Amino acid sequence: MKIAFITSEAYPFAKTGGLADVSNALPAALARRGHDVRIFMPRYYVVDRERFGLSIVGGPLGVPLGDGEKWAAILESRHIPGITAYFIEHDFYFGRDGLYDDGHAAYTDNAERFIFFCHGAMRALRDLGFAPDILHCNDWQTGLLPVYLKTLYGEDPFFKKSAAVMTVHNAGYQGVFPTELYHLTRLDWRHYNDGGLEFFNQMNFLKGGLLFADAVTTVSRKYAEELQTPEFGYDLADTFGRISGRLYGITNGVDYAKWNPETDTFLPARYSPDMMDGKRVCREELQRRMGLKIDPAAPLTGSISRVTHQKGMDVLADSLGALLADVNLQFVLLGQGEDWIFHKFEELRRLFPGRVGIFRGYDEPLSHLVEAGLDIYLMPSRYEPCGLNQMYSMKYGAIPVVRATGGLDDTVSEWDERSLSGNGFKFGDLTQKALYEKIRYVIRHFDNRRAWDSLRKNAMEFSRSWADAALEYERLYESLRTPVRHPVDTIYGFENL
Ligand code: ADP
Ligand code: GLC
Repeated sequence: MKIAFITSEAYPFAKTGGLADVSNALPAALARRGHDVRIFMPRYYVVDRERFGLSIVGGPLGVPLGDGEKWAAILESRHIPGITAYFIEHDFYFGRDGLYDDGHAAYTDNAERFIFFCHGAMRALRDLGFAPDILHCNDWQTGLLPVYLKTLYGEDPFFKKSAAVMTVHNAGYQGVFPTELYHLTRLDWRHYNDGGLEFFNQMNFLKGGLLFADAVTTVSRKYAEELQTPEFGYDLADTFGRISGRLYGITNGVDYAKWNPETDTFLPARYSPDMMDGKRVCREELQRRMGLKIDPAAPLTGSISRVTHQKGMDVLADSLGALLADVNLQFVLLGQGEDWIFHKFEELRRLFPGRVGIFRGYDEPLSHLVEAGLDIYLMPSRYEPCGLNQMYSMKYGAIPVVRATGGLDDTVSEWDERSLSGNGFKFGDLTQKALYEKIRYVIRHFDNRRAWDSLRKNAMEFSRSWADAALEYERLYESLRTPVRHPVDTIYGFENL
């Protein structure tokens, strides 16, 4: 099959979170199954011409925007083996340091930037002569593509075989913008109502993607259910309910070629479930790097995370204060994010010298050392569509302690000492008290070395590969071949017109 994978970020070109990992590993896994997969993404400033061997392959490409037209170039890279990645280049929109924000606030022209990207991607497909069987879109930044496919390009013979899949990686971000900008999309006003892009008198890109895609997926089964409730789907919960018949949960995988302590070249020593000596070396190295006391007895806990409300890091900081006072544990944080939460962690570092280490910034090699060095990985997310770090942690023998939500609930199973089953620990309420109690409970288990070794072995044996996930996507794609073209106005409830 010909698959166009449209995304706003992909590792190693540009990454802010798990979407970039998925946008590299899933296309690669599909290509290994014999599909012709092409990635389309914006060419940000960080996508280095030399490093990724970019060359111009198309354009100047006229992209309609409002009443006018803007010009873009199409660049290509073969950096990811087996995959061609195309970049829509427009210096004014994408030649900036950040992807979506300047480090403090979202860019004020994000609507315009991603309308341009979506429409540019449609035009690039045609310009390159790549008529996809599947147009696989990801998150709000690409939400307009399914809409374009079924409306402006609904009669275009070039796209007559194309079906659209919309994957939701995070419904906390929906791309909601003022109605005044709608004209930039060039879409007809008859799609601006409750059955289309309109959302509380604003436009909502993700909503457009959900309603117009042939199938919608999200990155775990549990999150697919949660999205239909106001707590997780927010004001789109009803829309998720409406499309539940074509909403599927497909859990992300792990790229074990990159995340494997037996082969990981970022580590000072390697190890496997049967040869764990290397983990001790990594642990000491991590303690040294983070300015912690070299203490083999203290359980070493930590997180690698966007430090945001979603990740529950504020509650974690609050409960750590009492834990550090009561228990001999250590904590490391590798992250980027909100100042007010960092201040809490910095205060802990001041109060408990040699026991709290913070690295504020983005550091890929260090993230591997953290996974390898930790005994316990903390992930108290308020919501977590899938989460990758709990799965990376298991592979590295860092036991995950997670909130039972989304993909965390699907991938982590509670340790039971009697039956020696389970691969981590879960808790329900995200409160300071619940977290404090759960971590104390986990540390009691940590002190029982033999049981802990069994638990660690279970965790290291957990496996969810991209090959498994790719197979599930492939089945879904197959079911969408030769999509039935309903006139849009009759299927999605435009009765309010
Ligand atoms: P999300 O996409 O919600 O941020 P995921 O768990 O799906 O969460 O993926 C996060 C990815 O980003 C992981 O690969 C993780 O290792 C990486 N990551 C997050 N913060 C950092 C950081 N400060 N330095 C290096 N890698 C990071
Ligand atoms: C999002 C989610 C995360 C998921 C990732 C990749 O950023 O927050 O849970 O793993 O996308 O799908």
